[in-house]
Amino acid sequence: MSNPDPRGEIFIDPIAYADQEHWHAVAAELRSQAPVLYVEEAGFTPFWALTGYEDVFAVSRNNGQYLNTRNSVLGPDAQLAFLNTIGIEPKTLIHMDGTEHLDHRGLTNAWFRPRAVTQRQAAIDSIADDFVAKFRDLGGTCDFAQEIATPYTLRVIMSIFGVPEEDEPTMLRLTQGLFGAADPEYLGDMSDPFAMILETIKQFDEYFQALADERRAHPTDDLATVIANGQIAGCPMDHHATFWYFTIVATAGHDTTSFALSGGLEALLRHPDQVKALQRDPDLIVNAVDEMIRWTSPVRHFLRYLTEPATLSGVHIPAGGRLLLSYPSANRDEAVFDQSMEFSVSRPNANRLISFGGGEHFCLGSTFARRELRTILPRLLGAVETLELDGEPEWAQANFVGGVKHLPVSATFR
Ligand code: HEM
Repeated sequence: MSNPDPRGEIFIDPIAYADQEHWHAVAAELRSQAPVLYVEEAGFTPFWALTGYEDVFAVSRNNGQYLNTRNSVLGPDAQLAFLNTIGIEPKTLIHMDGTEHLDHRGLTNAWFRPRAVTQRQAAIDSIADDFVAKFRDLGGTCDFAQEIATPYTLRVIMSIFGVPEEDEPTMLRLTQGLFGAADPEYLGDMSDPFAMILETIKQFDEYFQALADERRAHPTDDLATVIANGQIAGCPMDHHATFWYFTIVATAGHDTTSFALSGGLEALLRHPDQVKALQRDPDLIVNAVDEMIRWTSPVRHFLRYLTEPATLSGVHIPAGGRLLLSYPSANRDEAVFDQSMEFSVSRPNANRLISFGGGEHFCLGSTFARRELRTILPRLLGAVETLELDGEPEWAQANFVGGVKHLPVSATFR
């Protein structure tokens, strides 16, 4: 343990994720040589990185033995300590366990079930139509990630949440402030990620306080109303709980889905035969979307903590040890996915993807995410004669949520 393996760096360094080929080559090596890797890095509490599918799956599903706790995303210890000393203790669904988690999740669960998503399908169709039309209006040339994928996925989730269209840029800026703090493009004028996170939380707080006040005074049919008036065990949620609930719903749903869409389209465009297969057989879209989400794995990790000692892939880990679940690596595990480094819309078991996690924390918005991609892609492919990459895609530098942030494409429309 005193001589840490430098390969552990790929889980910490945001820049490592921007070079996908290198990242996946190192992860593949780890899966075969050290699937449970002890990682020690100055400034970070040590952790064990799990890169194999079976370990990630088993840990995700055993919520009694492996807890989320308050610190479920990797960051420098100093950052968390700094936030705690100024009274900021992030506490979203992701940070909860047991009954507390189930009670909070139960508040909004019904809004994310397949039936509820189906009720929203007409609205999703209409938003998708608008964005295909926008692409056409742009003359068939655009940065698909920035101009289509990001605003499309943002609009879908904000229409459910209840945030008006004119406030969408604020939501986007704030989400990128929280998740993209390591990418220089999102740092703006601020060179200090701590200051940026603090400022972002302050601005979210002001915005959500006004939104909660408004929805308590004038309830309506949106998710913001449900959260603002939510009760847990018969008591209204306090300011802190309401703030973090708003924050997870507002932030978890668009960058993730947007990266799946932009990275999925990139993969598709690198395989023109697969574009043709999808155009020939529209029913293939369900499988193709799962393959895109497997391939892109926009959420790079979550952490879990051991309540008791455990042995995973032959490595003994003491009680209290923390585990990093590497979803992108597990999604390329050769033991589960044949030719795992190949992108194939007809992969027979694409639906075994682990991009949405598992167990009690399984992604609340997975049905929305899948439906958003399944809605826009056939419309796009049906509208174009040709669709091609128009330059090199660029990946975000982020070790938590990331993917293709610039995707230049050009199309001729029918
Ligand atoms: C492709 C898109 C998406 C990916 C890859 C993704 C991935 C994930 C992952 C890995 C988790 C943690 C699961 C675990 O710990 O086992 C999660 C949780 C969550 N996701 Fe998603 N997500 C996506 C889209 C969405 C959308 C559209 C929403 C809608 C708001 C959403 C809301 C949430 C929430 C609220 C949680 C916390 C659930 C809990 O802890 O109980 N996600 N997601």
